[in-house]
Amino acid sequence: MNILLIVSGGIAAFKALELVRLLRKAGHGVTGVLTAGGAHFVTPLSLQALTETRVYSDLFSLTDESEMGHIQLSRAADLVVVAPASADILSSMATGRAHDLATTLLLATDKPVLAAPAMNVRMWLHPATVANVATLRSRGVSLVGPDEGVMACHEFGPGRLAEPPAIFAAIEAFFAPGRMAGKHVLVTSGPTHEPIDPVRYIANRSSGRQGTAIAAALLRLGARVTLVSGPTSQELPAGASIRRVETAAEMLAACQAALPADAAVFAAAVADWHVDAAAQKLKKQPGAAPPSLVLHQNPDILATISEPGPRRPRLVVGFAAETENVAANASAKRLRKGCDWIVANDVSPATGIMAGEANQVHLVTAEGEEDWPMLPKTEVAARLAARIAEALA
Ligand code: CTP
Repeated sequence: MNILLIVSGGIAAFKALELVRLLRKAGHGVTGVLTAGGAHFVTPLSLQALTETRVYSDLFSLTDESEMGHIQLSRAADLVVVAPASADILSSMATGRAHDLATTLLLATDKPVLAAPAMNVRMWLHPATVANVATLRSRGVSLVGPDEGVMACHEFGPGRLAEPPAIFAAIEAFFAPGRMAGKHVLVTSGPTHEPIDPVRYIANRSSGRQGTAIAAALLRLGARVTLVSGPTSQELPAGASIRRVETAAEMLAACQAALPADAAVFAAAVADWHVDAAAQKLKKQPGAAPPSLVLHQNPDILATISEPGPRRPRLVVGFAAETENVAANASAKRLRKGCDWIVANDVSPATGIMAGEANQVHLVTAEGEEDWPMLPKTEVAARLAARIAEALA
């Protein structure tokens, strides 16, 4: 396949070279376009060496016009990829500006566009960028990332360019669309941590293994996946848009921000309560009674997202971690929370399910209950993803 790769400005632009390497290795043709900003971080020569074809930039745009017109260049590709996509280029794309070679190509193209944003966290969270991204998504532009982490400017949050393997996986998904192509699924996974003071927190034994496996299985079917994950040591699947959160309140906010979605799977083991957290580390007081923790109920994310309304995903799947009366409790939970399906499992310590590799689940739907055999969590994930694909077809 032929990919037109637009490299715009930003400290992450050098990662575009690694992306080109992955694409070339997989046999794709890549034509590079450098914006003036991009050319500050990547030289035309390095991009040319890796793409093994000439690189287009504004400097040469007049001569390019005689060789290959803008329109032709934007249409010769099967997919246009913008990586990194700066706040500025996203703004130009959203408003239809054509002020340089890259933005002209983006306005003239009739091919799908995939953008991998990268910018400072404040810029990413600014209402202007949020609105531009919403506009682009509504016009069918696909996004991969941004990831969360420490940025070159030492701030922390979403804004880092997705890693090249994740961008590569998103590109591959365009060319081998599975049965869930075009569908967006939100998945929550892992535990939440509720702080008691700056150094202590309440947590639970969830490993995040089952939720991560579900996200990976949905990706394999070609879905676009947003994975909202609590703290976990699991390697999160490349290709998913990953939102790392700590508390239940953060998880709810990240889920709401990820909507709209065609389906949502709530595999996270969300803490039911949070604590009135102390601003300073709690100290032992000689002779005094231990401090008491004041608990408040957390929002129920599954129940909130299941509420009827235009933003409710078509299919909402909850989990039920039970230690007794599994099927009866799960059926009651399905009705109480307003979701469509419940995947119920027995998490009594004797089952070893909670932090283990295998899971035995019961799928509770409006039609009744199915008992699945004990299976590796990856296999439970594959079966569930296939059922979701069927339901959304
Ligand atoms: N869940 C949620 N938000 C919460 C609590 C739970 O989204 N604050 C979701 C979980 O991700 C799971 C489902 O609700 O999909 C059921 O979780 P579970 O812990 O089994 O149920 P609880 O709501 O805690 O109910 P109970 O304590 O009565 O068993």
